[in-house]
Amino acid sequence: MCSIIGFSGNEIAAPIIVKGLKRMEYRGYDSVGVATESENHIELKKGIGKVTEVNSKFQLDTLPGKIGIGHTRWATHGKVTDLNAHPHPSNSGKIAIVHNGIIENFEELKKQLEDDGYNFKSETDSEIIANLLQKNYESTKNVKDTIMKTVSEIKGHYAFVAMFENGQLAAARFHEPLIIGVGQENIFLSSDVLGFIEYTDNAIYMKSGNFVILENKEFEILDFNGEKVKHEITKVSKEFGDAYKGDYAHFTLKEIYEQPELIFKAGERTVEGIEEAVKYIKNAKNIYITGSGTSYNSALIAKQILSKYVKIKSEPIIASELQFAPETIEEDSVLIAISQSGESADVLEAVRIAKKSNCKIISIVNLLTSSLTRKGDVVLGMNCGPEIGVAATKSFTAQLLVLYKIVQKLNQNITINFEEFSKSISEILENPVKIQEIAKELKEVSDVYILGRGINYPIAIESALKLKELTYIHAEGIPGGELKHGPLALMDTDVFVIVINPKDSTYTDTLTSAREIKARGAKIIGVSDIESDVYDYWIKIPKINEILYPISEIIPIQLLTYYSALEKDTDPDYPRNLAKSVTVK
Ligand code: F6R
Repeated sequence: MCSIIGFSGNEIAAPIIVKGLKRMEYRGYDSVGVATESENHIELKKGIGKVTEVNSKFQLDTLPGKIGIGHTRWATHGKVTDLNAHPHPSNSGKIAIVHNGIIENFEELKKQLEDDGYNFKSETDSEIIANLLQKNYESTKNVKDTIMKTVSEIKGHYAFVAMFENGQLAAARFHEPLIIGVGQENIFLSSDVLGFIEYTDNAIYMKSGNFVILENKEFEILDFNGEKVKHEITKVSKEFGDAYKGDYAHFTLKEIYEQPELIFKAGERTVEGIEEAVKYIKNAKNIYITGSGTSYNSALIAKQILSKYVKIKSEPIIASELQFAPETIEEDSVLIAISQSGESADVLEAVRIAKKSNCKIISIVNLLTSSLTRKGDVVLGMNCGPEIGVAATKSFTAQLLVLYKIVQKLNQNITINFEEFSKSISEILENPVKIQEIAKELKEVSDVYILGRGINYPIAIESALKLKELTYIHAEGIPGGELKHGPLALMDTDVFVIVINPKDSTYTDTLTSAREIKARGAKIIGVSDIESDVYDYWIKIPKINEILYPISEIIPIQLLTYYSALEKDTDPDYPRNLAKSVTVK
C-alpha cells in the first residue's frame, strides 16, 4: 500500500525522506515523490518507478529545506502516471499533501471544489485533500481548524500528511496507519516504523480519529473535535533494524532461509497467551478462523489439525467475505484472526463484525505494534522478525507453528521434536541445485496445477498463490479427488503438475491421480518423502511427524517459486501490482 512520510528537523529533509521511502519499499508501490519547504516555498518532484530510479532521474534528494513529505504510491484511483504520483500540491501551490487510503466521497467533493473554481491535474482521490485544505485554510487561517474542517468533510479510510508553505506539518489518521517517530532533533510522521527506524526507536502510534500538528520539532496531538490527546511513547523493537538483506540476493531468499531458526522462536513469547487462548477455545460456542491470502491458507490448515488432533470443529472464513454474511458469526464464539502485518483491512473488518457478536478475539500476528494486536483479547506473536518480501514465506511457517503449539496444549499426547524438525528443514535448504534445475523447466510454462488431498490441499493452494505472485504463471491448487470432476480436461503436454504427496493417508490416492495425469502427457513434479517412477522431477522432503508435513512441503516450493522468478526475470521481493500490507478494503 502507499507509504507516507513527513519530516521536520535539524537536517536536510529530502535525503532522509528518500532513505525512509526506500526502507518502506516492501509495502509495494508504483511511483514516488518528495516535496520540501524552504524559505516559505514548496518544491516538489515525482515520477513513476522505483525509489532509486525516480531519484536518479529527478534527484529527489537534492530538494532544499529541513521540512518535507514523501510518498510511494500504490494506485487505486487513476492509472500509474507521473501526474497521479504524490505529493499533490493545492491549486495555490501553498499546500502539498501525501495520502494513503481511499476518499469515498471524492467525486462529490471534486464537483463542489470545481464549482468553486478549483481545477485538478490528476485522476486521484487524494488531490481533493490538497484543494479542500487550501479552501479551508483560506477561510480559517489556521492549521488546526483547517484539519478539523477537512476531516469532517471527507469520508473513507485514510492517513495523510499536509505541508504548509509556512513550514507547518499536519497529519490525520482515520483507520490507516500513522506513526510519529520522536528523535532528539528530528520528528517523523510515517506509515511504518521502517520510515524512521535508522534515526529513532521512539514511536507514538496515533489513534484513529486523531491528528497531529508539527512545527519546529514541537508537536501536539488532538482528536477530530480539537481536544488535546495524551500520548504514549513506545520503544520500537530493535529487530526492525535487521531489515537488511545481508549476504542474500533478495529479502525473499533470506526469509526462506530463516525458517529453520524460527521454528524455535514462533510463539516463544506467548506461552501464557497460548494457555489463555486454549481456555477461550475450550469454552467457545463456535470457533471461526479468519485471514486473507496466505494467512487464510493457514486458517484452512488450522481447521484440519483442530479437527484431527483435538476433535474441535472450526470454520475458516475468508476475511473479505465476512462482511457479506455477518450472520455467520454466532454470539459468544471465538474468532482466531491471523495476519502477518496485523493491518489487513479485511481482517480488521472481520474482527469488528465478530466483536459486535460478543466474540473473543485471538490474534495471531507478527507485527506486535499493529492494529490487530490492539484488538485481540489474546495476542499470540509469530515472532518471525520483519518480513519484507511481499510474498509471505516465513510468516506462513510461523503461523502454522503457533497453531501447532495451540493444538499441542489442547492435546498433550502430541509430541513434536522441534530440534529434529529444524534440522530436516535445514537439509531441504542446504542443496537447492535440483530445485534450481526444475525452476529452469518452469520458465516457459504458462499453466501449473498443484494437487493435494486433506491437509496437503491448503498447501496446494498456498503453492499456487506463491507461483502466481512470484512468477506470474497461472497456477491453481486442486483437491486431488476433484481431478476427474473437471480439471483432467486441462491436462496435456504443455502442462506441469505438482503433486503434494507425503507418505500419509492421502499417499496412494494422490499417486493414482499423478498416473492419470501422466497418461495425458503432463509433466509431474512430485513433492514427497518417497520416490516414484511417475514423477518426472522429484523434490524430496524429509520423513517426519505427519502434522509437520505442510511446512516441509511448502519450504521447497517457496524455493522453487523464488528460483523460477529469477529465471523469468521478475523481482521476487516486489511482485507487480501487490502490496505487503493491504490496508484498503
Ligand atoms: C501472499 C501474501 C498475501 C498476504 C495477505 C494477508 O504471499 O503475502 O496474500 O498473505 O495479504 O496479509 P496479512 O497476513 O498481513 O494479513
